[in-house]
Amino acid sequence: MTDTPTRVDTTRLQHLARGYTETAVFYAAIDLDLFSHVSQGATDIDALADAMSITMLNAERLVVVCLALGLLEPDDTSGNGPSRVRNAADCEKYLVSTSDRYAGAWMTFTRRETGDWFDLTESLRDLEPPATLGIYSDMTVERARRYHAATYSIGMGAGRRFCRHVDLTGRRHLLDLGGGSGAYSINAVKTFEGLRATVLDLPPVTVVTQEYLEQNGVSDLVDTVGGDFIADPLPTGCDVAVMASNLPIYDAERIQLVVQKTFDALEPGGEMHLVGETLNADGVGPVDAAMWGMAEVLYGSGGRAHTSTECIGYFESAGFADVHNVEFIRGTLTRTVGTKPA
Ligand SMILES: C[S@@+](CC[C@H](N)C(=O)[O-])C[C@H]1O[C@@H](n2cnc3c(N)ncnc32)[C@H](O)[C@@H]1O
Repeated sequence: MTDTPTRVDTTRLQHLARGYTETAVFYAAIDLDLFSHVSQGATDIDALADAMSITMLNAERLVVVCLALGLLEPDDTSGNGPSRVRNAADCEKYLVSTSDRYAGAWMTFTRRETGDWFDLTESLRDLEPPATLGIYSDMTVERARRYHAATYSIGMGAGRRFCRHVDLTGRRHLLDLGGGSGAYSINAVKTFEGLRATVLDLPPVTVVTQEYLEQNGVSDLVDTVGGDFIADPLPTGCDVAVMASNLPIYDAERIQLVVQKTFDALEPGGEMHLVGETLNADGVGPVDAAMWGMAEVLYGSGGRAHTSTECIGYFESAGFADVHNVEFIRGTLTRTVGTKPA
């Protein structure tokens, strides 16, 4: 048997060269509320054109691309292309704007950065040392409100998942570092009887956190502390800490510092969970973790992508025991966990 040599061609490179077109169509579909209209019964080109107030030709173009991307699926085929469509399962669950699972705000979260990404070459050539806090340096209440409308739309799902994965029965007080909307704390105090929580975040952000706590009816169980988890002392008396979706914002030195401060502040026997966009142990992928590290170039911070092995190292150097990584969301988030010896 002779091995057929793999032919090298340009397919993958061409796809990469035009990858931005997929993002653009996805944003347009969200803007035009395509998935809500399909869900509500506008399932052919005619009805969709009408519902989105666009021409039949443009509705057809949009539907053809969304079918090709797997965002829509054929609902019946008459031999000449699908005459009716339905939403793919994820679009039906997360992109129907009347649903409380609607995550459109998160999907378009980084949209305003699109122009900056296309100036990336210049940013990479910048030889100035980065500012420490990047986009968080000049946070205001208004910006925090817009920012966390997006993180809340995705964070509540992550918070629910955290409570399914991690049994906090018997724990008394959760410290939620950079807790933002409070999504993890809200779910935790609702799930585990007797648990209280403290969200520590930058002072303007905590104003917004309080709005979410009130909206979810947990203001009596969750309080907020305005501060900087790098520069300020951490609250003591907590027996569990979570730090979620902050990892690529900082360099190794600062992540090590926060993990150490958390270890020192936790009660003996307490546990810490670092939920982060983490690279594989060998540093190769996933793309999403690598890209969050790259985004920090645009924000002007010193942050970068960290590997799962580095995360283990931060915990072990701080003194945590039983340190290990658990897949949290495949291809996106890893949870590093460790226990402070009793
Ligand atoms: C991407 S959001 C994640 C929010 C929340 N943990 C979640 O998963 O939904 C990152 C949060 O970390 C906060 N943060 C970043 N650096 C911080 C610092 N040095 N001190 C306090 N909060 C910080 C930001 O203000 C923001 O609310």
